Amino acid sequence: MAPRTILYTGKGGVGKTSVAAATARRCAAAGKRTIVLSTDPAHSLSDSLGVTLGSEPTLVEDGLWGQEVSAQEQLERNWAAVQDWLGEMLVERGVDRISAEELTVPPGLDELFSLLQLKRHHEEGLFDVVIVDCAPTGETLRLLSFPDVARWWLEKVFPQRSQIMAAARPFARAVLDVSLPGDAVLDDVQHLVRNLIAMNEILRDTEHVSIRLVMNPDRMVIDEARRTFTYLNLYGYLTDAVVVNRVFPEEVGDYFGAWRRRQQEQLLEVEAAFAPVPVLRAPYFGEEVIGAEMLDRLGDAVFGDRDAAAVLHETVSQQLIVGRDDATLRLDLPFARKGGISLKKIGLELVVRVDGQKRTLLLPAALGDFRPTGASFADGSLTVAFERSAPAVRAVPTAGGADA
Ligand SMILES: Nc1ncnc2c1ncn2[C@@H]1O[C@H](COP(=O)(O)OP(=O)(O)O)[C@@H](O)[C@H]1O
Ligand SMILES: [Mg+2]
Repeated sequence: MAPRTILYTGKGGVGKTSVAAATARRCAAAGKRTIVLSTDPAHSLSDSLGVTLGSEPTLVEDGLWGQEVSAQEQLERNWAAVQDWLGEMLVERGVDRISAEELTVPPGLDELFSLLQLKRHHEEGLFDVVIVDCAPTGETLRLLSFPDVARWWLEKVFPQRSQIMAAARPFARAVLDVSLPGDAVLDDVQHLVRNLIAMNEILRDTEHVSIRLVMNPDRMVIDEARRTFTYLNLYGYLTDAVVVNRVFPEEVGDYFGAWRRRQQEQLLEVEAAFAPVPVLRAPYFGEEVIGAEMLDRLGDAVFGDRDAAAVLHETVSQQLIVGRDDATLRLDLPFARKGGISLKKIGLELVVRVDGQKRTLLLPAALGDFRPTGASFADGSLTVAFERSAPAVRAVPTAGGADA
């Protein structure tokens, strides 16, 4: 059976590592064999747990393991052939060796290879719970979102690759003055594509796998989390909780009073933006969250009586289908009855009100020039229809038109 897997993501510095480590400790304390692994190149899991972790699973204490995945190791394992080939080609063309080396690794790819450790733990089945401390804002998860394209390549292009390559090789040498990649390179690429497809299937298994967004009650941090939330939903990845970390407690006193009030307003925004996904909170502690005792305090604050390993929310709460000139958005509003619906779109922000419940969503940039044309409510979910406001195809100017 697939291990329960929880990925924590969010902007740098919001507390991802702390919350991931706290979650892992709680799961282990509940008797589950738990591993917490960091795929963020800025590893701080060792510091957080107070134990030096290696790039392979390292025992922290009874039932708890930690791992700081080495992006370099994973890159060498998965991408060496491509790097060699591309590197040589660039150097031949006068690019210096150091720049060439950098150019052979597209941004985010090394993190992606680190994330493949997730696949490994799913296949090996040694752990009941796998917690991932991800790189900021799930950029890497975004990279995983093209498996349909990848599948197409795999099916259409790769089966014929030997014929294509055999035909192209002399031509490439003679005419283009490039050497086509050898089998080892193509194997690496094919491997990557297969891995992406497999990873995507793992991540879409919403019975076992979910993502939790960590944020602070600050405007910019929240906005970024909302964007992440939108595209996670769109790719069919389940977000089962939102963690708002570093909330000023009531007793901060006058000096921070105004700031605390602003945070309370931001918290209402968070509720409106992520509902019905549960919003968990943790206070701003008077000291750093380092070591077992502080991590457990953080875990208690975040989860209270909840089971940290549970799937805290079970459905992907938004779905967007985009056509050429129209789009449909489905939104879960489980507590709304068939009431008055009002919709307002300001730029990329959609404000939906049903029965006095307000939901605000950040739409993907692709919907920039779409406007909502209607909405209906049935079975606890709201469906909003959009149409492109400017026609996709420009009208042909009529001959003799005066306005040039
Ligand atoms: N609720 C909190 N109260 C006080 N300090 C915190 C809290 N959460 C995290 N920290 C501290 O903030 C710093 C950044 O947290 P960290 O978990 O490393 O963030 P991230 O992984 O998102 O970059 C660390 O020094 C951590 O101990
Ligand atoms: Mg971190």
